[in-house]
Amino acid sequence: MQFSKRLDLFGNEIFAALNNRRLELEAQGRKIYNMSVGTPDFTTPEHIKKALIEAASDDANWRYSLRDLPELLDAVCSYYRKRFQVEITPDMVMSVYGSQEGMGHLGMTLCDEGDTVLLPDPCYPVFAAGSLLGGAVPYYYPLTAEHDFLPYVEDIPEDVARKAKYMIVSLPSNPVGSIASPGLYEEIVAFAKKYDILIIHDNAYSDIIFDDAYGGSFLSTPGAREVGVEFFSLSKSFNVTGARISFLVGRPDVIAALRKLRSQIDFGMFLPIQKAAIAALNGPLESVKDQCQDYEKRRDALCDGLRSIGWELPNGKGTMFVWAKIPGGRTDSMEFCMELMEKAGVIVTPGASFGPHGEGYVRFALVLPPEKIQEVIKAIRVSGI
Ligand SMILES: Cc1ncc(COP(=O)(O)O)c(C=O)c1O
Repeated sequence: MQFSKRLDLFGNEIFAALNNRRLELEAQGRKIYNMSVGTPDFTTPEHIKKALIEAASDDANWRYSLRDLPELLDAVCSYYRKRFQVEITPDMVMSVYGSQEGMGHLGMTLCDEGDTVLLPDPCYPVFAAGSLLGGAVPYYYPLTAEHDFLPYVEDIPEDVARKAKYMIVSLPSNPVGSIASPGLYEEIVAFAKKYDILIIHDNAYSDIIFDDAYGGSFLSTPGAREVGVEFFSLSKSFNVTGARISFLVGRPDVIAALRKLRSQIDFGMFLPIQKAAIAALNGPLESVKDQCQDYEKRRDALCDGLRSIGWELPNGKGTMFVWAKIPGGRTDSMEFCMELMEKAGVIVTPGASFGPHGEGYVRFALVLPPEKIQEVIKAIRVSGI
């Protein structure tokens, strides 16, 4: 059968090769430290699980939901007010099955064949995948050490900016760990206004930010509500990655457009999950803050540890990842990752899997406690790599 040419847009899964080799090594009895995939090892707060279980035992909640419950939309609005000091109304909110799914459908909602879109490089993969599915042609703006791994709109050529339809920005950034300042967001809003570009901000890591920095919302920037939308995911803040709970928040015309597309293929989020989301949004946030401190301890253990064995890297500023330059002047990140796994039993993600500017780097996921991270450092040191 001739499958759709669309599938040719996507390469082979990078994690698959590493994973296959990991299984082989584990079968041989080797100790493996997997710091590759960003699945949190922390647990979901009890009040969220309780809300889901209670709702799931009510037969009425097993029907098609068909819509976001008004209480859910209200909970997002009050959360934005209390957590980010941003006033939004229910027509500015819709649920998605994770930011991943929302991003995956946004290109199809916004783009026609050949439209230009601005994406970061290194790029969280679905930013590109969703855009490509919509027929868009990405222009990748680099995130480099020279500009603290932040978007630098001045370097985007005028002719590209003029034809760009949207720009995806995501800070704190996966994979590079950089964080925004209010000034940077103001520059991005001015750029968007000048060239009439929609900003799509992915705010997956606002609650994982270090050294007393503030993780806010892009929409709190003056003018941002006119030029932007933001994905607001509960996945990492509340450790509900498997429940697939995120929201697109912001400009009502964009929300209505994505809702129109999804209404053709979706019957709404499972009601017990909507109830769990309400419990998360209206509930206590202490665990979110405590968890951020735990991530910071892991960041310290990893960055201090790597520096102690000769790696040169600054501290990551946010997210559950650390972006590290490969030591010894080596540049082939895939080859390095394979060797690191073979010799040290440590699995990390090759920077090149996030785009050409990721080459020469690897990404560590902070999914092990500090004691285990010490073991990782020792394993790398002993391996002599
Ligand atoms: C930048 C970024 N966006 C989105 C996601 C996925 O979020 P969700 O679970 O809401 O789909 C991730 C997950 O790792 C991420 O790193």
